[in-house]
Amino acid sequence: MARIENAKSIGEWLDQRIAIETLKKVMQTEYWIPKNINFLWAMGMVLAATFGILLVSGIFLLMYYNPSVDLAFDSVNYTIMTEVGYGWLWRHVHGVGASLVFLIIYIHMFTGIYYGSYKKGRELIWLSGMLLFVLFSAEAFSGYMLPWGQMSYWAGMVITNLFSGGSLEAYGLVEWIRGDYVPGQAFLTRFFMLHVLLMPLAIIGGIVFHFGTLRIPHVNNQDSEDFDYAEAAALYKAGKVKESKVIPFSPVFLSKDVFVMGVYFILFFFLVFYKFDFAMDPVNFDPANGLSTPAHIYPEWYFLWSYEILRPFSKDMGLIAFAIAQVIFFTLPFLDRSPNVAPANKRGFLFHMWFWLLLIDVLVLTFMGKLPPTDATFAMIGMVAAYSFFALWILLPIITLIEKKIKE
Ligand code: HEM
Repeated sequence: MARIENAKSIGEWLDQRIAIETLKKVMQTEYWIPKNINFLWAMGMVLAATFGILLVSGIFLLMYYNPSVDLAFDSVNYTIMTEVGYGWLWRHVHGVGASLVFLIIYIHMFTGIYYGSYKKGRELIWLSGMLLFVLFSAEAFSGYMLPWGQMSYWAGMVITNLFSGGSLEAYGLVEWIRGDYVPGQAFLTRFFMLHVLLMPLAIIGGIVFHFGTLRIPHVNNQDSEDFDYAEAAALYKAGKVKESKVIPFSPVFLSKDVFVMGVYFILFFFLVFYKFDFAMDPVNFDPANGLSTPAHIYPEWYFLWSYEILRPFSKDMGLIAFAIAQVIFFTLPFLDRSPNVAPANKRGFLFHMWFWLLLIDVLVLTFMGKLPPTDATFAMIGMVAAYSFFALWILLPIITLIEKKIKE
């Protein structure tokens, strides 16, 4: 052990034990971020901050929530909303945060696709990000069960039914997952455990892993230009170039992040105070009733695109299509066969079109997923969008193979 001198300040005391000054020094003088990045590169930190807010608000809600099928609904809609001081605020913060986190995740994902931030050397950043997406989906779904309203109950019924495997009729598996023939106490207790313990722990692990995968390849930049960031900093320091291509993580990049976060939180709290109902389904304000099926069962907006992929197909095909849609984004670094690392608009017509068609298709699927399946025109649009989704992914290796190599 190194010799420990008497410390003159708390900072020095901490530095002797956990090298806090060294971390600060590395962030200020050794960890470089490219200069040419826009506000979209702050989305990762916005996500981390929103997750923090979800954790804190969740802890406050947990103090009064009661995970019993007889008391859960009232503990949320009556106790927390009307009896507990500022209980309504924590609930609105939690509900709005859960919805916005998905909006930001989708923006973050499509930014990565546009700028090719999943390509050679950065595959693990993408894969760990996708892992986080799956974990967040499980976290959101398990949380949706907790108020034990009509939508909690029936969404829980529909989604657990998927595990029967269509014609395989594996109802034993469905009952095993539910701990009963229908969602009941065992089901609620399990999803409660998943939501407040297992999934948050897994997400924290996932975030640490995701940050770790950024350490060596570093973040991409707006031109997807591949250069050694440390070397660029050294050239500037040695006076060999007039303008630096990189900035230190702290405080320069961090201050950009904090600015974008400030703007984001203005929107966040505007929604919390004035428009919180967008994050709450009116049907879920009726207590769960296993004897009365709602006319139209649909998930929250962020799952609508994959739900719409399930609907147009027959029972078995729907299930297979749904399962593929859940994992297809994982395969992006391997299906994109082009060596070009460049923003979509510089990769030629085909990939540029592919990107925008994928984005529009996911939006169309989302809108159609919310509508009842009874209208023939909308059902047809939904079906075309679902087929197009798969066609786009099948086409990806072909169009990227014929993509012309961009000259260096
Ligand atoms: C809560 C979840 C997440 C957190 C906290 C998070 C955090 C971050 C942070 C801080 C960065 C660096 C700065 C930036 O580019 O924004 C980053 C980069 C990245 N993330 Fe995430 N992320 C999350 C989810 C995801 C998801 C779902 C994906 C999609 C698969 C993803 C893919 C990426 C990629 C490809 C990069 C590299 C961007 C680049 O090189 O320019 N992340 N993430």
